[in-house]
Amino acid sequence: MSAIKSNYKRITVKSLIDMKSNGEKISMLTAYDYTMAHIVDGAGIDVILVGDSASNVMAGHETTLPITLDQMIYHASSVVRAAKRSLVVVDLPFGSYQSDPKEALRSAIRIMKESGGHAVKLEGGKEIKDSIKRILHAGIPVMGHLGLTPQSIYKFGTYTVRAKEDQEAEKLIEDALFLERSGCFAIVLEKIPADLARKVAEQLTIPVIGIGAGNGVDGQVLVLPDMLGMTHEFNPRFLRRYLNLHEQMTGAIEQYITDVKNVDFPNEEEQY
Ligand code: KIV
Repeated sequence: MSAIKSNYKRITVKSLIDMKSNGEKISMLTAYDYTMAHIVDGAGIDVILVGDSASNVMAGHETTLPITLDQMIYHASSVVRAAKRSLVVVDLPFGSYQSDPKEALRSAIRIMKESGGHAVKLEGGKEIKDSIKRILHAGIPVMGHLGLTPQSIYKFGTYTVRAKEDQEAEKLIEDALFLERSGCFAIVLEKIPADLARKVAEQLTIPVIGIGAGNGVDGQVLVLPDMLGMTHEFNPRFLRRYLNLHEQMTGAIEQYITDVKNVDFPNEEEQY
């Protein structure tokens, strides 16, 4: 199957804004290493997110909190080397931007300089306004992230749907409008009611990319190992698994072990 590739040689933050105005949906997936990013980019994805979900799916941590700035730079630089067409957005990890705006700018500059990423993503609204403004003033494109923000998981206590109550929904709309006014080029909305996400997307001129936020937004993002079925321990409603790689990879590895044990591998043609 070949993808519906948008008509852009190289995706930029401006291409994404144009896509929204032209009614073209934006495709985004995470990647954390060269080999996977090479496949994702070659398939025609618009945006690769080097998400701090690397903390879970690459490093095996329970939350996104432990991953460090150095580790994010390592993942991002591998992805950037593979991305010939996609826009590469890199998550600023927990602790690298919340304490003060100068530190936030230093972290964003390190990501841009040392990984070659094209933009950064930060979680939160007005509470991190000074950091966002400082990064934007330095000419670094910023993607916002509202709704379920996994870096605040210990404040929420659970990974359940956010902004179901009016008060939280109103704050989310205010934050989204604030992020647009501040100069963010796009926003991720994670795990919120579809009606609310649609309302936000209709009010903003910048693209709104959803994960667990319904189809009324301007694009979708999923975590790559989840959509490929490499992970299988959880099944949130929003997650469509396009493959069951966990089963296929396990089968292949079991077959290899059997072949080695039975001296079926390598055979005559597979040796020098
Ligand atoms: O880190 C990540 O993978 C993300 C997506 C879930 C949007 O932020």
